[in-house]
Amino acid sequence: MSIKKVGVVGCGLMGHGIAQVAAQGGCTVVVVETEQKFLDTGLARIDKSLSKMAEKAKEKGGNFEAAPVRARISGSLERKSLADCDLVVEAIVEDLGVKNKLFAELGALCKKETIFASNTSSFPIAEMAKASGRPSQFVGLHFFNPVQLMKLVEVVRTDATSEEVFAQARAFGETCGKSPVACKDTPGFVVNRLLVPYMAEAMKMLDRGDASAQDIDTAMKFGCGYPMGPFELTDYVGLDTTLSILQGWVKRYPNEPAFKIPAVLEKLVNEKKLGRKSGQGFYKWEGDKRT
Ligand SMILES: NC(=O)c1ccc[n+]([C@@H]2O[C@H](COP(=O)([O-])OP(=O)(O)OC[C@H]3O[C@@H](n4cnc5c(N)ncnc54)[C@H](O)[C@@H]3O)[C@@H](O)[C@H]2O)c1
Repeated sequence: MSIKKVGVVGCGLMGHGIAQVAAQGGCTVVVVETEQKFLDTGLARIDKSLSKMAEKAKEKGGNFEAAPVRARISGSLERKSLADCDLVVEAIVEDLGVKNKLFAELGALCKKETIFASNTSSFPIAEMAKASGRPSQFVGLHFFNPVQLMKLVEVVRTDATSEEVFAQARAFGETCGKSPVACKDTPGFVVNRLLVPYMAEAMKMLDRGDASAQDIDTAMKFGCGYPMGPFELTDYVGLDTTLSILQGWVKRYPNEPAFKIPAVLEKLVNEKKLGRKSGQGFYKWEGDKRT
């Protein structure tokens, strides 16, 4: 079976992008939301992104047909619209209880061949797989923001994921125009498992007074050629998001030193200094600009 009809649950920041890239790859897509206003906002984001792509292609003397892509996407407030999908990708709020409840419902509702995937950044895939009642047909498909531009998708398999399902999920990643990487169901998969402890280690250097945030950022930019240093990056990601990922890991792996929470991170989050989105984190921000 190849994946032709895709359901996307949640049409927020990630869900709208996943729906769009799946439709660009030729799949028929149904996006499910909880309220009409969220569906309208998500579909409007897709319209905007597609017209931008068409404009850019024109500027370069090429041609990108937005209309046929958009025509393959429909929106719904009914979960039963997902019943005959070959694949359902979940991109709803990062709350394990809510995700498990959704997958239990989908397990009872969808045709027996439907593959399930979660776009979670921090929860174990195996727990949602268990809740769905079909663990062999369950993978993680971890896309990156903005989905339309970022080339990576991590395809996560649990001990129970079947070879065939994994191969189909990986092929779907390619259909979406991404470079899939395979990984096991471990905390943070590949990217976040390396990135979040790196950001935390930089904060621990600051806690010890080894160097200033600005000097550490300059060192990593000019010494390693990274586009931004760890503090600027944490400000971009959000200090609260970073803290919540570490807290989840510490709960499950209390003895792992790489997951130890830096004091400065807790302090700044308590002071509501959350990074770029709150105007102040390790740096001061005005919109997208550091001041
Ligand atoms: N934001 C990122 O950079 C990023 C990157 C990779 C993965 N993720 C993961 O993707 C998922 C979605 O994140 P996001 O940033 O798109 O969130 P978001 O808040 O922008 O979007 C979530 C959407 O899901 C909808 N929703 C909530 N519960 C629902 C339900 N039961 N049924 C249908 N729709 C529901 C909400 O109305 C909202 O529109 C999370 O698991 C997150 O961890 C996020």
